[in-house]
Amino acid sequence: MRIAILKERAPGETRVAVTPETVKKFAALGATVAVEEGAGASASIPDEAFREAGAEIGPAAATVKGADIVLGIQAPELALLEGAQPGAWVAALFDPFANRELVADYAKAGIEALSMEFMPRITRAQSMDVLSSQSNLAGYKAVIAAADTYGRAFPMMMTAAGTVQAARVFVMGVGVAGLQAIATARRLGAQVSATDVRSATKEQIRSLGAKPVFVENVAGIEGEGSGGYATEMSEEYQKAQAELVSGHIAKQDIVVTTALIPGKAAPRLISDAQVASMKPGSVIFDLAVAQGGNVEGSVADQVVERHGVKIVGYANTAAHLAADASALFARNHYNFLSAFWDKEAGKPVLDEEIGDTVRLTKGGEVVSERLKKAS
Ligand code: NAI
Repeated sequence: MRIAILKERAPGETRVAVTPETVKKFAALGATVAVEEGAGASASIPDEAFREAGAEIGPAAATVKGADIVLGIQAPELALLEGAQPGAWVAALFDPFANRELVADYAKAGIEALSMEFMPRITRAQSMDVLSSQSNLAGYKAVIAAADTYGRAFPMMMTAAGTVQAARVFVMGVGVAGLQAIATARRLGAQVSATDVRSATKEQIRSLGAKPVFVENVAGIEGEGSGGYATEMSEEYQKAQAELVSGHIAKQDIVVTTALIPGKAAPRLISDAQVASMKPGSVIFDLAVAQGGNVEGSVADQVVERHGVKIVGYANTAAHLAADASALFARNHYNFLSAFWDKEAGKPVLDEEIGDTVRLTKGGEVVSERLKKAS
């Protein structure tokens, strides 16, 4: 069993899909691990550390040659997979709804694509869930980046020269990233409030010492769709939410937006008029900027100034914490493959519940029901 890891080639991608820790763990399962030279450089992992852990280091073609499994952060271009075993697996982020052509090409080439973002949200798959591990770090980084852009302090400070007021932080969307954003802003001493469409998050917000700000008395406000994800909300709800947000946002110093709906563009939560209602010097961090943005006017990897308010958002937030993001992603990969490791076969054998959910292509066909349904 040969597991290959290539250097990531997408612009701005700093992460790597394996670490010396997981190289050792895969080796303990009996696998050979090959890593492309320089693959860990931007995540502060030198080739030498991989070599010491037992990995083969070499150029891309030699790394992939004979590979049974290729692990990635983002799915590699097909050309890079030349020389892999027929029917080899590639486990990575595919962004399948946006990359249908790539998925179709993988199918044609007879490669089995395993989409890590399709990992089901069930208890036993939690340790394999890259959306969760990366969102956690992204929620943290969003607050740190917003604090860095903000021209004032987060905590209240009593100084001989007078008192500095605590910042007011509003988190919109309280999934994995939002919860971490609340916790981080609280640790920095801000006064934090938060909102979501899923009413189950109210208690979670309170338990982190923040104030829930929720639409009340509108039909269909449970907002919870399948797998714990949000659904698109009714027009009536959206109107009530916009009114509530308008009243609240004008009093905030920092807003962090994290709202996503799987397979759809990110919902628009803040209009330009609402940005204009904020105080000059306020900062908005749009974590959804790469999925279309929650904030009107946000541009990936740029600080946009509108009405004296700075709007920030990274195309790939987790990549700004390359070392930790790689460590967690690599463990997600290991937890996934090792959970299905068949000792006698010397390779992983996936079950239906998880295998059929993450698998996009097999035997020359696109087989993912979720992807086919959404076409
Ligand atoms: P996500 O990244 O898809 O969305 C972020 C948040 O935005 C969600 O809380 C969503 O409800 C919210 N949102 C969507 N539209 C909105 C709107 N119009 N206004 C305000 N907020 C809006 O969600 P994420 O972070 O992936 O988590 C979703 C749920 O899945 C959570 O309950 C989480 O605990 C659960 N989960 C379960 C896992 C497991 O059991 N294996 C693993 C990871 C998460």
